[in-house]
Amino acid sequence: MSMKLPFFKTKQIDDHKEHKDIENIPNHVAIIMDGNGRWAKKRSLPRIAGHKEGVNAVMKVVRAASNYNVKVLTLYAFSTENWKRPKSEIDFLMKLPKEFLHIYLPELMEKNVRIETIGDFDALPAHTKKAVQYAKDKTKNNDGLLLNFALNYGSRYEIMQAVKQIMTDIDCSKITLDSLDEKAFSNYLYTEGLSDPDLLIRTSGEQRLSNFLLWQLAYTEFWFTDVLWPDFSEDVFVEALHEYQQRKRRYGGI
Ligand code: FPP
Repeated sequence: MSMKLPFFKTKQIDDHKEHKDIENIPNHVAIIMDGNGRWAKKRSLPRIAGHKEGVNAVMKVVRAASNYNVKVLTLYAFSTENWKRPKSEIDFLMKLPKEFLHIYLPELMEKNVRIETIGDFDALPAHTKKAVQYAKDKTKNNDGLLLNFALNYGSRYEIMQAVKQIMTDIDCSKITLDSLDEKAFSNYLYTEGLSDPDLLIRTSGEQRLSNFLLWQLAYTEFWFTDVLWPDFSEDVFVEALHEYQQRKRRYGGI
């Protein structure tokens, strides 16, 4: 049975509520979920214990994003560079989407969440693709939060593929060079049709992009926290939203 979280749970969140400008909730939040390994190491546990706990943190942020009426939540779950990890860790990571969906798909349906992915989906193991595809199909008519997993995602690869496809389309006169502008280019990316992230969160104290959404983050507000991903909570998410609400976005203007 799932439990609907109250909108504001704690005194700390009530304090945020005072400053809360409901009009200024980011439409699209992207998160680099980092620190699973360090979370486990601090507890003398194997790294996979951090990833396992990270799955629960995913659901916490989905609940919070859904409650706060965020429209799109893009989570960096596996990068094209993560294939360099030991096989045992990769195998474990590839089982997590199925585990997550096995536990939480009923609640995701109840919350009207739609699941999508960005990245090279075809290159994932068959069992991962099967579980995720099932969830995509099952949730495709939901019109609440879009939960977008970046799975086997690399931004440089994405941009390079876009360039190749554009060249092919110009060659066969599907588009003209003159018609190619930023909007048209965006439509060749995995994120076709999605607005760019308004807020990027990275956990664990690291402050880099790690090949994540390089084109799409051009004007995004960044927020970094030392909290390790498995410790991420609604309170931390609200802290990020609150900070976002204080930012003045000028997009290069004054
Ligand atoms: C980075 O931490 C984390 C990852 C590469 C995996 C992220 C995956 C999850 C949070 C679970 C995904 C859940 C679903 C439902 C797909 P790290 O291992 O690099 O941590 P470290 O920097 O402390 O070693």
